[in-house]
Amino acid sequence: MTIRVLLPGFGNVGRRFCRLLEKSENLEESGRKITLVGVATRERGSLWSDEGIPVGKLLEAERQTRRVDALSLPGVKKGIPVLEMIREGNYDILAECTSGNLKTVEYDPGFSHMKSALERGKPVATTNKTAVALKFGELEALSKSSGVAWHYDGTVVVGTPFLDYARTTLSEAGIRAFEGTLSSTCNYVLDSLIEGASLDQALMDAQRSGMAESDPTLDIEGWDTAAKAMIVAQALMDAPCPGLGSFPVRGIRGLTRATLAEARQTGGKIRLLARIVRSAEGVELSVGPELLPPTHPLSLLFGPTNGGVILTEGLGEVCFSGTGSSPRQAAYALLQDIRKIVRAGGKR
Ligand SMILES: NC(=O)c1ccc[n+]([C@@H]2O[C@H](COP(=O)([O-])OP(=O)(O)OC[C@H]3O[C@@H](n4cnc5c(N)ncnc54)[C@H](OP(=O)(O)O)[C@@H]3O)[C@@H](O)[C@H]2O)c1
Repeated sequence: MTIRVLLPGFGNVGRRFCRLLEKSENLEESGRKITLVGVATRERGSLWSDEGIPVGKLLEAERQTRRVDALSLPGVKKGIPVLEMIREGNYDILAECTSGNLKTVEYDPGFSHMKSALERGKPVATTNKTAVALKFGELEALSKSSGVAWHYDGTVVVGTPFLDYARTTLSEAGIRAFEGTLSSTCNYVLDSLIEGASLDQALMDAQRSGMAESDPTLDIEGWDTAAKAMIVAQALMDAPCPGLGSFPVRGIRGLTRATLAEARQTGGKIRLLARIVRSAEGVELSVGPELLPPTHPLSLLFGPTNGGVILTEGLGEVCFSGTGSSPRQAAYALLQDIRKIVRAGGKR
């Protein structure tokens, strides 16, 4: 008995996911071995094998040639279009790892991939932040109407799996509001600024450590946090959420020397905060830098560490924190989501 996984997207996360599969040669959930049957990229080919693709050989072939379809083995088919695999292939779970574009508000191909799978009754696990932020409502409605699971813990603060916990455990306590830091890059850069570094220097350090993207604009200008805040709002509050561009978003450029000096003097932190508040109409969102007092729970976190405070009716404030975000952690979250799907028999 195997769990047959189809993986569109073989970039930083998809590759890491395959490494996790490779490390655990006999990776099982509920007695079923997790097997890769399909993989697809935009420009570097695609593979399908009914018998399962040997991930170690796939990783090695891709490492040597940069192409996914460099692997030639009996029974391995090449060049099947990804949508054809999703609509017609024999698989159990879609693991969606392609990228969208927040700058151009482009949620495809990820949205179409997930929609097509759910319409066929195939469960979905994804790390695709842009598609989930922008098309959450449609994907959630499809999952509800079909009764098929979709999980997206790999989209937000992937080193700290709080979404699933909050959704399953805290929602009955009545979630009223959320405030949190959702960008490791911004946390790290802000601490460096308080210590006296320039923005350029702090960004260069963050890039050198592999934390910041080569183009960190979306992080620094707050759009990455805004997209993640939209996912948190929709996942935890189950209410209509304003679209990207319809709520205030301020980044961390232009912090004044006076604010940085005040943070130094008080021992507080400056953080790019995502705020979500339940309102009569749905939820209100905002993203912007704030000077937090030293007693604030988020002032206790250092460097890239992310964290949040969830305000509930029944339990008061519940805080969480955890390591930042990396492809390895995203891949781990994806694998955990796949395990959850298997344990629930694919049902939501
Ligand atoms: N990197 C992280 O730390 C992290 C953390 C959490 C979530 N995420 C999210 O996870 C997703 C993947 O991230 P990543 O860093 O792995 O991105 P990436 O390195 O840019 O890889 C994206 C992959 O998607 C493929 N792709 C794009 N369009 C496609 C299409 N039309 N059909 C088939 N494949 C297509 C690309 O193909 P090519 O190889 O041909 O370009 C590439 O293999 C993104 O949505 C990202 O927001 C990333």
